[in-house]
Amino acid sequence: MERLQKVMAEAGVASRRASEKLIASGHVQVNGKTVTEMGIKVSEHDEVIVDGVLLHREAHVYYLLNKPRSVITSAHDDKGRRTVVDILKEEGIEERVYPVGRLDYDTTGILMLTNDGDLANRLMHPKFEVEKTYIAKVRGIINNNDLKQLRVGVKVNGRLTKKAKTRLIETDQRKKTSLVKLTIHEGRYHQVKLMFDAVHHPVIKLHRETYGPLDLHGLQSGEFRELKPDEVKLLKKMSK
Ligand code: URA
Repeated sequence: MERLQKVMAEAGVASRRASEKLIASGHVQVNGKTVTEMGIKVSEHDEVIVDGVLLHREAHVYYLLNKPRSVITSAHDDKGRRTVVDILKEEGIEERVYPVGRLDYDTTGILMLTNDGDLANRLMHPKFEVEKTYIAKVRGIINNNDLKQLRVGVKVNGRLTKKAKTRLIETDQRKKTSLVKLTIHEGRYHQVKLMFDAVHHPVIKLHRETYGPLDLHGLQSGEFRELKPDEVKLLKKMSK
């Protein structure tokens, strides 16, 4: 059972807020009866009609994408650039899916997409602290003190980052670069790049390897797959 306004929003009628207004102003019928009170829950067996039009309700779908570079993490781009949703559409996926969280235009790696707004919102909520692992190629030879600072917390936009895990993978003395694995539980805007900026090792390349219990095993750049029922179950359990 899901709230009526949420079902309407997921079917693309309007935002949740606007759907609430439609309900309150008598535009919505459930099983032939007009409902105007808030808080009503409906199941997939209930018939929802908005302004005389039967709601087309989609089953929830969950995809895992290995995002390539030069793709926008969004459903639409005003500038017409290719989006992560375009990648799925190009392969015939027709559901209205959205990315869960975001990766920068030039960041590659694991990204979940779904039309299950409820799960997406819960996974993105700071309270659930989904663990994410990034591989960052950074400028300069990073030292133990820098790594320690990243672990205990650095200031990003005036606020300390939470505890993180780090591992130095390798350094290139000739090119003066380092490859670092960083595991964080937060998802602030440009968080990883800003964390490395804070220790004066700007990120040259960024790749996300894992998202909670999920990894990219078997997915080449630009490829995607559906999540297995067990994986969906695990994500739901984690975010309860
Ligand atoms: N942190 C960043 O700075 N960029 C990303 O794409 C993801 C995390």
